[in-house]
Amino acid sequence: MTHFERPIERRGSNSIKWDAILQTYNEEDLLPLWIADMDFQAPEGVLAAYQKLIAHGVLGYAETPKSLYRAIIDWENDQHHLALEKKDILFFSGVLAGITTAIQAFTDRDDAILIHDPVYPPFATIITNNQRKLVRSRLREEKGRFVMDFADIEEKFNQQRVKAMILCNPHNPGGRVWSKEELQRLGELCKKYAVLVLSDEIHQDLVFPPYEMTSFFCAGTDFSDFSLQFTSMTKTFNLAGIKNSVIFVKNKALREQLLRKQAANFQHEINTFGLVGMEAAYQTGKDWLSELLPYIRSNVTYLLEFFQNHLPKVKIMIPEGTYLLWLDFSAYGLSDEALENRLVHTGKVVLNPGVSYGSSGKQHMRLNVACPQSVLAEGLRRIATALNE
Ligand SMILES: Cc1ncc(COP(=O)(O)O)c(C=O)c1O
Repeated sequence: MTHFERPIERRGSNSIKWDAILQTYNEEDLLPLWIADMDFQAPEGVLAAYQKLIAHGVLGYAETPKSLYRAIIDWENDQHHLALEKKDILFFSGVLAGITTAIQAFTDRDDAILIHDPVYPPFATIITNNQRKLVRSRLREEKGRFVMDFADIEEKFNQQRVKAMILCNPHNPGGRVWSKEELQRLGELCKKYAVLVLSDEIHQDLVFPPYEMTSFFCAGTDFSDFSLQFTSMTKTFNLAGIKNSVIFVKNKALREQLLRKQAANFQHEINTFGLVGMEAAYQTGKDWLSELLPYIRSNVTYLLEFFQNHLPKVKIMIPEGTYLLWLDFSAYGLSDEALENRLVHTGKVVLNPGVSYGSSGKQHMRLNVACPQSVLAEGLRRIATALNE
């Protein structure tokens, strides 16, 4: 049995995935296949680094070690052919905190910011909570996968005077790993209309060959002039709870403006546990990751077979990356509320309602396969019970 197959009891550990849903839905014995964290233990090297920290026992303020910068530079270079220097790297307590600060630093009240539809829901929340104008461009479905609608994006850039765009690369919830050509085309439009790109690349390491991750910076020779990249090792190595992240900024003026806002918000001191976990993950996690990806893939295959045999009416977007799947339940003709109720109260299984990702997510659900296959099998059985009632 590999370490990914062993079920780990997470109930009673204050897990949002396992514990918080009981209150949300007022229901017992729910099986969660929602939220983007995995039911797997972190790599040994990360746990060992934490044990060393605890054994030392002093948990005072920590500076960012040079070895951590080195580990990030090496990882980005080896895994993503992205050349970085130490000065290009800023630390934040989470990708969303970084994106929020960037929105505050580079845009003003009522400025228009574009995101795709569907896309990871907090992007819209950040925009509206900061009194910016939310503009959405709907992704189109072509041959069972999402593609960008460049004509629509250009029209919106032009007519709505869009100032910035938050890009999800790879895409959550569709699992698209945007190709270099798509990113080039998008980048050229952003350049033409002076749109700043905030590229969220938190899922950058969760990509299935033959698909290849292209960092936005690498899609065009001058793209780092008008963009920032946000990433973290927290999705890759299942460390979401340590809330630690990095922003890559090569453009000096953008970097200085962001640093000023970060300091104004007093966000520049970084959690010791974040720094320790991040360094250990980048330095020691590669083998773990190379075992994880085939395991996730085998779960995707398992799921596809299950749906084909038991729920053939559900349309599934096959992911090129991430451990998230976008499922279209529209053939059942249920409202979003009825669909959620059926899954939760009849099947006792929790997925993310698609409608929270934008209006194109109506009658869809997002499902997380990053769990032992035995847990996934039980979750799928519950979905079938809910829908074949
Ligand atoms: C695209 C994307 N960005 C950001 C986050 C959250 O990042 P953080 O916890 O570092 O704020 C997630 C988590 O699921 C995500 O999928």
